[in-house]
Amino acid sequence: MPDTPSSPLASSDITHQIHGFTDLAHPNEDELMVITEGDGIYVIDDRGNRYLDCTAGMYCTALGFNEPELAEAAYAQMRRLPTYHNLLATTNPPATALSKKLIEITPEQLTKVFLVNSGSEANDTIIKLIWYYNNALGRPEKKKIISRKGSYHGSTVATSSLTGVPSMHTGFDVPMEGFLKVDGPHIFREMKPGEDEQAYGARLVRQVEDRIQKEGPETVAAMVVDPLASAAGFQFSPKGYFERLQAVLRKYDVLFVVDEVISGFGRTGRMFAAETLGLKADLMSIAKGLCSAYLPIAGVLMTEEIFAAIAKQSGEFGMFAQAFTTGGHPTTSAVALRNIELIEERDILAHVRSVSPRFLERLQALTAHPLVGEAHGLGLAGTVELVAGKPGDVPFDDGGRKRIRPLMRDYGSKHGLIPRGWVERQSFAPPLIITEQQIDEMFDRFTRTLDDALVQLRAEGVVAQ
Ligand SMILES: Cc1ncc(COP(=O)(O)O)c(C=O)c1O
Repeated sequence: MPDTPSSPLASSDITHQIHGFTDLAHPNEDELMVITEGDGIYVIDDRGNRYLDCTAGMYCTALGFNEPELAEAAYAQMRRLPTYHNLLATTNPPATALSKKLIEITPEQLTKVFLVNSGSEANDTIIKLIWYYNNALGRPEKKKIISRKGSYHGSTVATSSLTGVPSMHTGFDVPMEGFLKVDGPHIFREMKPGEDEQAYGARLVRQVEDRIQKEGPETVAAMVVDPLASAAGFQFSPKGYFERLQAVLRKYDVLFVVDEVISGFGRTGRMFAAETLGLKADLMSIAKGLCSAYLPIAGVLMTEEIFAAIAKQSGEFGMFAQAFTTGGHPTTSAVALRNIELIEERDILAHVRSVSPRFLERLQALTAHPLVGEAHGLGLAGTVELVAGKPGDVPFDDGGRKRIRPLMRDYGSKHGLIPRGWVERQSFAPPLIITEQQIDEMFDRFTRTLDDALVQLRAEGVVAQ
């Protein structure tokens, strides 16, 4: 294993700061990365090491880690009006302009936007809107919400209930009641022998329909889907799945909610995965790529029909009592607007479509490696599943699964790479400005990381010689 001495800041950091998704009882100073600078698709740590982050800093930045135009947009807005609330009967020009822009670029049935600060807040707001909407329509029993196992939709009480990852629930007294889970897609492991993608997709959708019938359609309000199933390390849905799913949801008057927190703003080569995959959302959440995550901003989009119902209800109550002080903040809105303008001015969507074939070719080539069982990709989103042995694509046992993350992290660091693994699923979602040459560099570094991990796993007897 490479020797990774701890950063000079690590001890102070761990003494004072809590980091999500870490083991607080066993903090490890050697593991802590102190990122101090960004340079295009690279980030640099406090000791001058440069890394290519395979997933753009948690699927965030479209335009890379030091886009001066975004910094200038923030500075210009900060000099004029750095902050003001957007509540009651108050607004600011960047929030107004951003809202107009979002309605222009999102699918046409979405006509209103509500600005918030994070993907979790967006999905949390959506949950409340679904309940409010059904109350407005006089069907207070229609409240249950379906989501997929393996999905991630946020960390608040309600969005962690929506999330289909058991470790997000343990010890927190969630999920709350009324959050139903169905199987998410896993073409590689779950498609049965003799089944093709169409048949597998139909089986998954049948499970949704059976569940709606079992619960009673009059009690089921919505289904929420992250189109790329990113928390499962990117699981692409089988052919025909979304078409069938939307037909079933329509049949039972169940709202279709598309969580575009990761898939939005160009990841699939169109502005939204909804366009790429033919999804007609009643409600949609956006975050991350909206602002290249330079500042915290997110949004909820809805149809005119939903807006009309909640507007009528709020009229009866005297107000719409849902608000966040920094939702529609002038500076975050100005930076998000500039981010979208730059995506358009530089035709980043065409760029994604032009480099995607190279990305998919290099992704697919990884299956020649003894540790890689399968590869799948779309646009600039890709995934490989690591296996303990071939032929037969033998899955890792629990011990092997525990070894993957530290080995990939440590050998990735050695090769100047930050891989992002959800156990054996390794994801690729680089900044959208990545060039073909940098795509080669990313996969070359990943292959060297795998080579080192293979030697170590063989030495430990986890993988056969
Ligand atoms: C699909 C999806 N939805 C929602 C969220 C929550 O966003 P946030 O972390 O900004 O609250 C995430 C975060 O990774 C996500 O991947």
